[in-house]
Amino acid sequence: MAAIEREPPSSIEGSSPNRPQMFHRISDNAIDESSDADSDFVKLQKTISKERREARESPQARLQRAFPFTFHPNIRPLSTSDYESCIALENAAFPDPEHRATPEKFLYRLSTCPELSLGVLCTVVPDKAKNWTIETLDAAKPVETDRPNGAKSVLVAHIVSTRCAGDTITDKDMDYPKDWRIRRGRSADVGHQESGRTVAMHSLAVAPKLHGCGIGQMIAKAYLQQMKDAGVADRVALICQDYLVSYYERLGFKCIGKSPAQFGGGGWHDMVIDLAKYEVKVGKTPS
Ligand SMILES: CC(C)(COP(=O)(O)OP(=O)(O)OC[C@H]1O[C@@H](n2cnc3c(N)ncnc32)[C@H](O)[C@@H]1OP(=O)(O)O)[C@@H](O)C(=O)NCCC(=O)NCCS
Repeated sequence: MAAIEREPPSSIEGSSPNRPQMFHRISDNAIDESSDADSDFVKLQKTISKERREARESPQARLQRAFPFTFHPNIRPLSTSDYESCIALENAAFPDPEHRATPEKFLYRLSTCPELSLGVLCTVVPDKAKNWTIETLDAAKPVETDRPNGAKSVLVAHIVSTRCAGDTITDKDMDYPKDWRIRRGRSADVGHQESGRTVAMHSLAVAPKLHGCGIGQMIAKAYLQQMKDAGVADRVALICQDYLVSYYERLGFKCIGKSPAQFGGGGWHDMVIDLAKYEVKVGKTPS
């Protein structure tokens, strides 16, 4: 990847560039062995942490509880026919309306570069889902027309992207040409840049009901692998708020620093992954 290191965000100054201190979660497995604490105390802390971790519900168990059907994810690129499902998912997943892509942006992105999108869809049979619902159910399309059980293909996660010319995402990349319907492929100075070598990942969203089940990691890993295998770009970039920096680091992204993007009120960090170096890390993903 080109040299795009920037100053780390001021709030994380003085911390390691790869694992800024403010993103360390004081979690069950964060035990301070550097202090003067005697070894018996550290041993006790470790035992308690291990017990807590073991007692915590696994992503698979959470998934079974949240999705009480057989989970056979169909992972495929999206198209404009998935537009309503994407809007429903985006609205459900992003609590802050300023952080959502607008319906018009979705239509633009799904029309202009559908090959840069990916969805996770699951089959739901309405008769078996009488007491179960999800925000994308109403917009779901039949798996096949005339299937007797009326099975629907329900969107549970999506990634929607464009290409950008720089190594990181700017407000211009987040925007779209207002006259895109009549441009017919002519380039514009905002939105998708056909010759860009960076995939600008705008939306990664998982249906709230299925958060914490490993679906976010599953779609992100599948997406990065597809982008790498297709050779369509050199890197994938995104912007995220503080609390998701460590989430993306775990996928292999590097935090480059504060983003100048002011989209949705600003406060973003630039995250970039070099596809040439990307290797899928085996982790907890739903089977
Ligand atoms: C962020 C998001 C995509 C994660 O998807 P997910 O399917 O819930 O995440 P996973 O189950 O793959 O997460 C696995 C790990 O990430 C952690 N994680 C998930 N969401 C997190 C969050 N919002 N903040 C911090 N950590 C988070 C989980 O605690 C879990 O850690 P563990 O393995 O130690 O238990 C999802 O929460 C979402 O759609 N959020 C709203 C939209 C959004 O903010 N998108 C990102 C835009 S940059």
